[in-house]
Amino acid sequence: MSDLTPLITTTRTAIRQQIRQRRQQLSIQQQQQAGRDLVHQFSQHPHIQSAQHIAIYLHIDGELDTQAVIDWCWQQGKQVYIPILHPFSHKQLLFTRLTATTPLIKNKYGISEPQLNVTQVIPYLALDLVCSPLVAFDLFGNRLGMGGGYYDRTFSQHQFVRHDQQPPYVLGLAHDCQQHDNLPIAPWDMPIKEIITPSRTLAFC
Ligand SMILES: Nc1ncnc2c1ncn2[C@@H]1O[C@H](COP(=O)(O)OP(=O)(O)OP(=O)(O)O)[C@@H](O)[C@H]1O
Ligand SMILES: [Mg+2]
Repeated sequence: MSDLTPLITTTRTAIRQQIRQRRQQLSIQQQQQAGRDLVHQFSQHPHIQSAQHIAIYLHIDGELDTQAVIDWCWQQGKQVYIPILHPFSHKQLLFTRLTATTPLIKNKYGISEPQLNVTQVIPYLALDLVCSPLVAFDLFGNRLGMGGGYYDRTFSQHQFVRHDQQPPYVLGLAHDCQQHDNLPIAPWDMPIKEIITPSRTLAFC
């Protein structure tokens, strides 16, 4: 992967810092309301209604609270998967099933994840839908993450999809305050199809 200019790298770092602070300042009540509003968006969404195998994340750092939508998915009989850090492949994710009784551990970033159990891992391309976290989004489907490149590497697997297969439908979940109108994008940043916030759904395809 080629390097970005120092100015673009500095700008991306500054945007991450500014928006992470903004979302960390949301109150517990605002977070809980955002989580409930997200359930409303999920329940209206055709792609989500028809999806059976759904990857989502366990929130941290003021990210949009996903517990209520995870509960909603379980109530709908859907299977929920959570990304975990791959035990040996550098900066790759594995997706593993989450149930109400799955033991959770903290990874090296302090993010909760299911304890690795190989019988519960799903191949990425077998997922119907991936709901990714992000730090910032724009109105063109670009996303800026925490800076690890984990999701960019994951989404780049779409190039390996067979002609008779559909790649997972990828969307981002964010608070409205995470919108940024001038995101400096890198060549490896993978765009997403939709952003869902507590108040709206933005589709880019
Ligand atoms: N497909 C890829 N293969 C190899 N390296 C990659 C790939 N995608 C991104 N990277 C590397 O990952 C690093 C971080 O990328 P970037 O700053 O875009 O992360 P991010 O989008 O904020 O994080 P994430 O994808 O985890 O949400 C960069 O150095 C980039 O070169
Ligand atoms: Mg990126």
